Formats: sequence, C-alpha cells, structure tokens
Amino acid sequence: MADIFEKLIKNQGPLGQHRERAHGYFAFPKLEGEIGNRMKFRGKDMIVWSLNNYLGLANHPDVRKADADATADYGLATPMGARMMSGNSNYHEQLEAELAAFEQKEDSILMNYGYQGIMSAIDALCGRHDVIVYDAESHACIIDGLRLHPGHRYVFKHNDVEDCDKQLERATALIEKQKTGGILVITEGVFGMAGDQGKLKEIVDLKSKYDFRLLVDDAHGFGTLGETGAGAGEEQGCQDGIDLYFSTFAKSMASIGAFMAGPKVIIDYIRYNIRSQIFAKSLPMPFVIGNLKRLELLRNHRELKDKLWSNARKLQEGLKARGFDIGKTDSVVTPIYMKGGVPEATAMVMDLRENYHVFCSIVVYPVIPKGHIIYRLIPTSVHTDADIEETLKAFTETKEKLDAGQYRVELIPDMAG
Ligand SMILES: Cc1ncc(COP(=O)(O)O)c(C=O)c1O
Repeated sequence: MADIFEKLIKNQGPLGQHRERAHGYFAFPKLEGEIGNRMKFRGKDMIVWSLNNYLGLANHPDVRKADADATADYGLATPMGARMMSGNSNYHEQLEAELAAFEQKEDSILMNYGYQGIMSAIDALCGRHDVIVYDAESHACIIDGLRLHPGHRYVFKHNDVEDCDKQLERATALIEKQKTGGILVITEGVFGMAGDQGKLKEIVDLKSKYDFRLLVDDAHGFGTLGETGAGAGEEQGCQDGIDLYFSTFAKSMASIGAFMAGPKVIIDYIRYNIRSQIFAKSLPMPFVIGNLKRLELLRNHRELKDKLWSNARKLQEGLKARGFDIGKTDSVVTPIYMKGGVPEATAMVMDLRENYHVFCSIVVYPVIPKGHIIYRLIPTSVHTDADIEETLKAFTETKEKLDAGQYRVELIPDMAG
C-alpha cells in the first residue's frame, strides 16, 4: 500500500516544487508597515502594486477607527455560533440590507469568505438535474463550486458569447430531454488575471433566446466599476439581468467576508440552505461594523474611485506608450505580458525588487502556458504620479535586460529565508 505522505513528499505540486528556493521571496513574501502605496520588503522600501486595496480603504482613518472601536466594544468572539443558531445581530442584517440596496437587489446574504461562500452557494442553488454553463477562465472558487455540483456542466470559451450561446443550446436540449431541471450561467464581472470585463450585457441578452439564471462573481468590479461603484453590471447597464450578484470584501472593501444579492425569496433559500454558513460561526462583529463603515465611504466618496481610475489610466497609457503589451484589460487590473521561462521571470522580479524597489506579482507556468510571463499590477487610489513614473522607468529598463537575455538563468534564484 502506498503511503500518502510519501507520495506528497515526492511530488510537492507545480508551485510547491520551487519552495526551497522561493519561500519568503517569490512565494509567501512578507510585506511590512502600513498598507499603502509604499511598504517594506526585507527592510527595503517598495512601491507596492500587488494589493487589491483599490480604493485605499485599508488605511482610511475612519475605517481604522471603526475597526478599532468595534473591536474594543465587541472583541472578535461576538456573536458566537452560526447565524442560524445564535450568531445573528442587527448589524449583520443592516449590512445585508445596505448591500442589497446598493446593488439594487431585494436582499443579500453575508458570507464569511468569498471563496467558500460562492462554492457553497453553487452547491445550494443547483441539484442533479440542473445544468451549469460557465466561463472557462472562472476563478478557482467557481471551479470548486462546480466540483460539488452533481449535475451536468458545460464550459464556454473565455468571454466567447457565441460559444456561450452554443453551450446554452446544448444545456437547453438536455433539460428538455430530462423534462426537469434548469440552467445557471456563471461568469465574472472582471477577470482578475487579464482585467477584461465579462460580457455581461451580451449574456443577459441571451435570456431572450434561452431560459436561464445568471450568477456573476464581481470581486474586482465591486467598488471600481459603474457610476456609483456598484460594479460591472452597473457599468454595462445590465444590473437587472444579473439574477445573483456576488462580491468578496477582500478587494475594494479591504476587509474580509463576502455577500450575494438577489431576489428576497432566493436569498432566503440560500440563507436556509448554504452549508458553509449554516455549519460555520458567524462573521465577527468588528468585520460587520468595519464593513458598514467601508460601504458608507465607498458610497459617499466617489472621488476615491475617480482617483483609482486616474491612476489606472496613467499607468496603462504609460505602459502602452512605451510599447508594452497590456492585453485587453478594460478594468483597473493591469497585466503586462512578456515572454520568458520561469527562472528568467523570477530573476527579473528580483531585479525589480532589489534595484528598482518595485514590488508586483508574477504569474508563470503552470498557471499560464510555458514561456509566458504576466506581471500583474494593481493600481489603487493611494498611488502617486511619482510611483507610476518610477514604475514605468523600472519596467522599461528591466524589459530591455529581459530582451537582451540578461536574466537567463538555469534555476530560480535561491532567495528562500
Ligand atoms: C473572482 C474572485 N472570487 C472570489 C474570491 C475569493 O474571495 P475571498 O478572498 O473573500 O475568499 C477572489 C479572491 O479573493 C476572487 O478574485
């Protein structure tokens, strides 16, 4: 019989195989100091482009005060137990009502984490006769939700509405043959890797042809898109066609937790059937009160979103003017596409950090195909013109070195420790 541990030690997984040289630097780095545009990494000041603190709320004085006051008043324990049993409060219900109103939906439900929340919501919503039609580049939490789904699922090519139409046709034929079940389409408001918005408007338009419900994960659109910041549905003028709107608090809200908004009767159904919330402790009060404060600021200070976009435009236009390929982003998420192997990418990142003091995330094989590198820059409202200028200069110089083969190394630089 094989020993499970022995197998795991032999094969640490696609990313884990690099851990001995990468840990603490390329993976699991420790950024220190106040969350903002500049933080410390291994004692050096860095311009930080890897935090989804889009609106700069992480360190907003009103947010810090609300978090501190709520922690002093309630501690982290209150309320104890699951919402359904003993963990409910007026604050939880107030946050749900305010989020629903903001998203122009009847009701919403809080979730402790986005990842497990949406996974579990998919599980609650769909039974074995239902069919899920989803975008090929959906976030891991959606894919894991699909793993819980006992029925059929059809994937459409990323943001390809024609293929979505085709998959809906297949799904409809299957449902008609089964004579039972329904269709749930799942996509994202903004795809976090490439920054392209999901084609929500076109998918909503398919409702005139097929019967289905639409669930949108708008983790990166919430707070950053739409006139009021209500997200990609508002931006594209199709919020009404989104049956279930989901976002995490981990990005624009710079906090933790998540919510799903939709028709009252369906949100109530989820409330009484979502296993990850029914069998888990309620979101602690400081998070709920802290999130109420964040939502208030997000709603009442549109200048934060305006500043975010002004920074995003400067960064994106600056990159394009210097000949960088930033793909098809139409959100603030700013990818830079380059070619190179994994060791080369890490050597370039090391140069960016050590000599240019620019800290950003990289995405390499096996997350994307071999030979490709994506640098992912996340602008925020707290970045400055100087941050953008220095970063543009850093990328221009390091790209020249990359093209000249100066980062060609056999192995990932050994930076563990
Ligand atoms: C698209 C998307 N959905 C869901 C999540 C998970 O949310 P959370 O961090 O609250 O678990 C993330 C990442 O945070 C995300 O990018």
